[in-house]
Amino acid sequence: MRAVDIIQKKKEGKIHTKEEIDFLVKGLLDGTVADYQMTAWLMAVYFKGLNEDETAYLTESFINSGDILDFSDISDRVADKHSTGGVGDKVTIVLIPLLAALGVPCAKLSGRGLGYTGGTVDKLESIPGFVCSLKDEDFKEQIKKIGAAISAQTPNLTPADGKIYALRDVTATVDNKSLICASVVSKKIASGANIIVLDVKYGCGAFIKTKEEAKELADLMIRTGARLNKKISAVISSMEQPLGTHIGNSLEIIESIEFLKGNYNKDLYEIVLEIAGYTLILSNLAKDFEDAKNMMDNVIKSGAALEKLKEIIEAQGGNPDVIGDYSLFNVGKNKIEIKAAEDGYVSKLDALLIAKACKLLGAGRDKKGDDIDFGAGCILKKKTGDTVKTGETLLTLYFNDIKDEKKEEAVQLAKCAFEYSKIKPEILSLICK
Ligand code: URA
Repeated sequence: MRAVDIIQKKKEGKIHTKEEIDFLVKGLLDGTVADYQMTAWLMAVYFKGLNEDETAYLTESFINSGDILDFSDISDRVADKHSTGGVGDKVTIVLIPLLAALGVPCAKLSGRGLGYTGGTVDKLESIPGFVCSLKDEDFKEQIKKIGAAISAQTPNLTPADGKIYALRDVTATVDNKSLICASVVSKKIASGANIIVLDVKYGCGAFIKTKEEAKELADLMIRTGARLNKKISAVISSMEQPLGTHIGNSLEIIESIEFLKGNYNKDLYEIVLEIAGYTLILSNLAKDFEDAKNMMDNVIKSGAALEKLKEIIEAQGGNPDVIGDYSLFNVGKNKIEIKAAEDGYVSKLDALLIAKACKLLGAGRDKKGDDIDFGAGCILKKKTGDTVKTGETLLTLYFNDIKDEKKEEAVQLAKCAFEYSKIKPEILSLICK
């Protein structure tokens, strides 16, 4: 078998065998298939697609590229969640300590930023000292000890996805349903969890643009999980505007800490509750969403969820003092306020343009391995449906030392992200029921 023939086959829109997919995936890891061959194949897949069998083969090949964790000695109800990626999506950072404080063991495998979307691993690494690359045994030990761990893929867990994820990020091959499915489902199965809730996002700030496609992706992931004997649940949510108010690595951790202190944005609360609700019901800890809401509110009010975040930070080498002292974070030393150009209502807040502005300021990568500036990002003061007066602040951009051209481009993008109307716009619901 030769990689070039497999690429040619997909270029012609033909169907792969399991052996061909295994050959490519194994070859990438042992060096017999080059990165450029894999990226050529990914682009062919982007244009010609994978059918459901091929998608399941790819998922299985990713799972078999590394270890599969087993938590049966800890609990038969270990939870994991995964988002297909969005702007300002800090749900994991809030949800994991919350669930762990409620007695649900959480084994969370997270990724780095992908395309324009931020990654939980990058966000957590903005906490001074925080280590996300846990060894499998340390990941498991931490879950045993404190009930939760959040780790990047280790070299032993779905290493094939780890490598391909980084290639997709910089070759415009993220937004394909089969590739997203294989990437997400393989990680969730390898992480050993048995309660898996996915957050499938659609809209201008997500890889999937429409609600219909998000439903298709959710169904594909549920069916692929079932083929591999894993029950997966999915929530479908809108990513037309950023989630919450803070975008950028350090800033999103600050918003997450504030959430656990009881100061939350209502959109972020809604999605956290939806995913926590499913998880608590599937864990047989809550009888319905009302019950889950009360449980969630209680651990926020009592400070138990915040305490759990502190324990996770400490266990993973981070400085827990960040919880009380935000000056320990790198937050951009320079600020620019973007002001409203009209009176009326914000009729649109484009998540993608906001993400592009933050990336230009240094919050995201252009190519694999690039450094990111944890301090870059923005804080939104207005969101869709809010009233505005000319000259009022819409958002504040935060950045460190960057070139003037980039700064000016970011300002233009941030301005263009807002549209106005004289009448109150219809607000579509965040979660698709
Ligand atoms: N998250 C992942 O882990 N993989 C994708 O492909 C997209 C989002």
